[in-house]
Amino acid sequence: MKDILTMGIESSCDETSVAIVKNGREILSNVIDTQIPIHEKYGGVVPEIASRNHIEAISRVAKKAFKDANVKIEDIDAITPTYGPGLVGALLVGVSYAKALAFANNIPLVGVNHIEGHIAANYITHKELKPPFLCVMMSGGNTQIIYVKDYTKFEVLGKTRDDAIGEAFDKVARVVGLGYPGGPKVDKLAKEGIANIDLPKTHFEKEEYTLDFSFSGIKTAVINLHHKNPNINKADLCASFEKNVTETLMENVKKAIEKTGIKVVSLAGGVSANTYIRGAFKELEKEGIKVYMPDLKLCTDNAAMIASSGYYNFIEGKRSSLDLNAIPNLKLNNN
Ligand code: KG4
Repeated sequence: MKDILTMGIESSCDETSVAIVKNGREILSNVIDTQIPIHEKYGGVVPEIASRNHIEAISRVAKKAFKDANVKIEDIDAITPTYGPGLVGALLVGVSYAKALAFANNIPLVGVNHIEGHIAANYITHKELKPPFLCVMMSGGNTQIIYVKDYTKFEVLGKTRDDAIGEAFDKVARVVGLGYPGGPKVDKLAKEGIANIDLPKTHFEKEEYTLDFSFSGIKTAVINLHHKNPNINKADLCASFEKNVTETLMENVKKAIEKTGIKVVSLAGGVSANTYIRGAFKELEKEGIKVYMPDLKLCTDNAAMIASSGYYNFIEGKRSSLDLNAIPNLKLNNN
């Protein structure tokens, strides 16, 4: 069978990335141009600055992706940009670039949901992984337990009712003075601490079967504790925070396994790079659960995962027209 090459384009937040992937699983190139140093001084992503930097970077990044993969535009079977969720101005850069390239070269266009992309990062790392499985999606904008029924069929079993877990990591980092992006910095400092500080967990009253999360309570508890006691050991606070949120994740994942009978669990999204969370999930293997995690470099935003998801959508026959628009609050469809 002929190989299928998809060109992934990712510009939903602060990474401009273009990748070329073969048959959804093999990376030929994956160029990532991060804007983290640009946004660092503002303590978070500034949407307008992100859009401008995507515009400046996109052609350069795409050219390098073709050069690294040693392929030409004529070799590409589908152009697959992220069209949501994300920052609208940032998304529009990748979507517009993809539409122009698809139109000029008469190549099919397939819009990709960024969340589906994060899930697909697992297919690149683990060649044997096939649906069905459960996916714990943890990023800066999302926290969900997803039942991956097939490559393009999903059911959201539980989700956060307020903050995403990544937001909580970033906020805790800011409060204790670690800066942006907070997750990796909390991860590093927590390794020097002991999880000996009691922090509250949110339980939804009369809803013992829910698989939903809430991370705003723990975030506020850490902020209050730090304000009342500025000399608190920051490493211990970070370690206690990580332990608390990991236990919350685990409780719901175990309920999801019980509910569905599916004993294969994967992780996805930026927070799945967290050392403590990865360790805790690995422990699940002792209970007979198979656990998959993307390579660290594929946990955070990149276009290879978008090209992988684009491939599965393309072979299922999905096509986008040239009026494809950016959808900032795009949801994962239950189907
Ligand atoms: O998936 P991602 O790159 O972007 C979104 O689509 O949101 O996730 C970014 C989030 C940020 O909140 C960042 O602080 C967090 O992932 N993150 C981490 C780690 N690396 C990135 N959180 C905890 N531990 C890490 N090692």
